[in-house]
Amino acid sequence: MIAYYNGQFLESDKIQISPFDRGFQFADGAYEVVRYYPNKFFEFDAHMERLKYSLSQLDISSVNIERFQEIFVELIQKNELFDQSSIGYIQITRGVQFPRRHSPDPVISPTIFMYVEKLSPNKETHANGVTVGLGEDIRWIRCDIKSISLLANILTKKGAVDKGVYEIVWSRNGFITEGTHTNVAFVKNNVVITPPLNSFILAGITRKVVLKLCDELKLQHEERNISVEELNTMDECFLMATTSEITPVVKIASSTFRTGAPGKVTMLLQKEFQKNIHRNKLM
Ligand SMILES: Cc1ncc(COP(=O)(O)O)c(C=O)c1O
Repeated sequence: MIAYYNGQFLESDKIQISPFDRGFQFADGAYEVVRYYPNKFFEFDAHMERLKYSLSQLDISSVNIERFQEIFVELIQKNELFDQSSIGYIQITRGVQFPRRHSPDPVISPTIFMYVEKLSPNKETHANGVTVGLGEDIRWIRCDIKSISLLANILTKKGAVDKGVYEIVWSRNGFITEGTHTNVAFVKNNVVITPPLNSFILAGITRKVVLKLCDELKLQHEERNISVEELNTMDECFLMATTSEITPVVKIASSTFRTGAPGKVTMLLQKEFQKNIHRNKLM
């Protein structure tokens, strides 16, 4: 695989990252994930805006984001993925620093690593839905930053896999936040309800597109706190993410939605979402 590392396109197994990189030492960095469908990136600019936000919150500067789309096009071409769906990762750390100190050395420059992987949409989960569990949110309180420090997400997702569920949806102080790699929404009496943007959740790009689609479809929507007790009064539930797109949830912990099949509003949004992906080719 050809990857991009600090200004060069290289075979990924030839890339050597310093053990003194602050990403390795402290998980001191941010990342972003973009999706490519043949001939089109999904909401590329929105992903770059969020990356800029994450970097600004970490006070990591001098990253030239303007070139990232060009770099991804080149990675897709070099890896012969032009006609396939793929996912692109941008991993940015504050850089290499020795001797090791918590306080960042102001003169170091960021490490930038980018690569693409083939990723086809999951037709099975999209059509039939998934079961998810509930868990206490064990993360810090700056979940609005897409930080490379993902231990809480990894441990929780491992728990989901061990339990045989697709995802764990977290709650904090009795209110739903999000999943380990997804935002979550519910439908009650045809109203789409999702937790509000604050520092307890990531401002998902898919979530933003879904709310825009609700407007276009004249579907009422609310961004408000949702208590765990309220879950068994909901009619439908779905997950939203760049990787999972819109994935219906048929069961969450002990609450089964309707007959345990994907809901009508969910499937309508999923259909519109697919149309939206292919609406305007960018390249
Ligand atoms: C914790 C978390 N929430 C939500 C999302 C969904 O965000 P997006 O739709 O931008 O992919 C992700 C995606 O990786 C995530 O990691």
